[in-house]
Amino acid sequence: MFQIKLKDFKSFSCDSNQTIIEAALKSGIFLDHSCLTGRCSSCKFKVISGESFTEFEESPLSSFEKSEGFILTCIRKPLSDLELDAEDLGEYGFSQSVTIPAKINAIQQLTPEIIQVNLRVPPNQKVNFLEGQYLNVIWNGIKRSYSIANPSSSFEIELIIKNYQGGAMSTYWFGQAKTNDLMRLEIPKGTFFLRNHPGKENLVFLATGTGIAPIKSILESTTNQVKLGQFKRIFVLWGMKFEKEIFWEPSSSEVEFIPVLSRESQSKRYVQNVISNLELDMTNTVIYACGSEDMIQDARNKSIQLGLNSNHFYSDAFVASN
Ligand code: FES
Repeated sequence: MFQIKLKDFKSFSCDSNQTIIEAALKSGIFLDHSCLTGRCSSCKFKVISGESFTEFEESPLSSFEKSEGFILTCIRKPLSDLELDAEDLGEYGFSQSVTIPAKINAIQQLTPEIIQVNLRVPPNQKVNFLEGQYLNVIWNGIKRSYSIANPSSSFEIELIIKNYQGGAMSTYWFGQAKTNDLMRLEIPKGTFFLRNHPGKENLVFLATGTGIAPIKSILESTTNQVKLGQFKRIFVLWGMKFEKEIFWEPSSSEVEFIPVLSRESQSKRYVQNVISNLELDMTNTVIYACGSEDMIQDARNKSIQLGLNSNHFYSDAFVASN
């Protein structure tokens, strides 16, 4: 058994058969993570000392990052005691993930390719999550991840689901799913949530497609209103193809809502290209991005070029499944 030490002086045990994130979660320590499959880089941390190994390619890491000692802790296992430049997020009130039954309460078509599914859980089952987190749906042996679209005070769980033509779970959602169908949920998952940013003036949310779901959840949360109220300006930039697909908008007039439509005109527009038009002081800005890996990567690079501190870019990349 090895000891993993963090920069906040917390530590946990991990053996060489466990990934670092797995062992941390078992010890009640929440390190940044999302996909848990080595594809999104949310769990990227720098190793200060010690050795680790992985059987997989850490493709989201650049060769520079690898040479600087960064690893993906969701696919790395220790070979010695380790010291990581990482800290426990537990103080924000994360709950351990639980597996619970749920039934479909309602299905609503939002666009020809997107539905909203409302799920209900047993009345005695308290569901705790932080707005922005995701869950896994397990149905008929298939497991898929979806961001939760409602605030944690709701009695139902709301998912916004896109049709991936030919995908195993899409075939169910868009062809067979009906009210009262039973499934299991693993909830909550991931560490995408609104943090405290004292002194920062601008908050920018970026989304593509159904990546709007966790942003909707964050903005509709009553418990987030104090954090949101500390910003002078809040933006939501939402990338969709056509105006008729915009099925939601923030209810607060304080939020500057900018749909970014890629197919409404000859010149294609993308959210990551609109950031510079906002003309913000990037040293006073934090960005939360959710959606495609390409958008997130590009938005991160462009924002850093504009002066954003890379520690103030938070993301939840949707990685494709079939
Ligand atoms: S790469 Fe580790 S959580 Fe996504």
